[in-house]
Amino acid sequence: MTSTSWIQRFRTRIVALFALAAVVCFTTVACSGGSSTTEAGPAIAPDLVADYIHTVLAADRTAYTQHVVNRVKTLEGKSKEDGVLPVESTEAWQQTDGVPLPAQMFRLGSEIANESGYFTYNLISPWNINDSQGPKSEFEKEAVEEIVATGEPYKGYQEVGDQAYYSALYPDTAVAEACVSCHNTHPVHLERYPDKVFEMGDVMGGIIINIPVESMPST
Ligand code: HEC
Repeated sequence: MTSTSWIQRFRTRIVALFALAAVVCFTTVACSGGSSTTEAGPAIAPDLVADYIHTVLAADRTAYTQHVVNRVKTLEGKSKEDGVLPVESTEAWQQTDGVPLPAQMFRLGSEIANESGYFTYNLISPWNINDSQGPKSEFEKEAVEEIVATGEPYKGYQEVGDQAYYSALYPDTAVAEACVSCHNTHPVHLERYPDKVFEMGDVMGGIIINIPVESMPST
């Protein structure tokens, strides 16, 4: 072995060592710095997460309404001319071998998902037929008023007990004549809100999504 080749090999090793050190330093800085990264990777803003969840919920709600409930021959006791399925969609679906109404289908899904502990969602309305679907927290009461007035989603932070949440309420509107006619003639609606007559395009309530967050934002 000549002395030159020994020096050459030594140099190569030193260069490799520096390269490795540089990579380690870069990785440490990249992974520890910046407010938009977490141990699991880049953080996604909670309002975007809420928008993603809402997109899926609204799509499933519309698909079930259009492609299942819209095809039944009987909707809450009344026959549908364009119905093709010999089945009834009715609030009393469990007692009558029928299929659930869209809002009931939505609630059945939310009851399962809410148990996961990741986030919760529900349909709420100031003119609720189901007792458990009225606005409860101060945030929900204000949010419901806003979406009815503006037709736009309402988003913000709220604290329920010791837990902070990012919450978003998205309007649920009367997109079909059936929404309006069924709610306006429902016995519970007539008893509780005799003066409230829904019209096509009205905001009838909203989809509330609550995502737990570490703490309320500092003001
Ligand atoms: C055939 C009757 C019927 C039709 C059609 C119908 N709903 Fe409902 N809706 C109900 C009933 C009954 C409930 C309560 C169900 C429950 O127990 O969750 C409800 C619940 C809701 C709620 C939650 C608040 C509440 O009242 O408890 C909203 C919001 C809502 N419906 C909007 C709509 C919209 C928008 C449409 C049309 C896309 C629609 N509904 C179509 C009967 C109907």
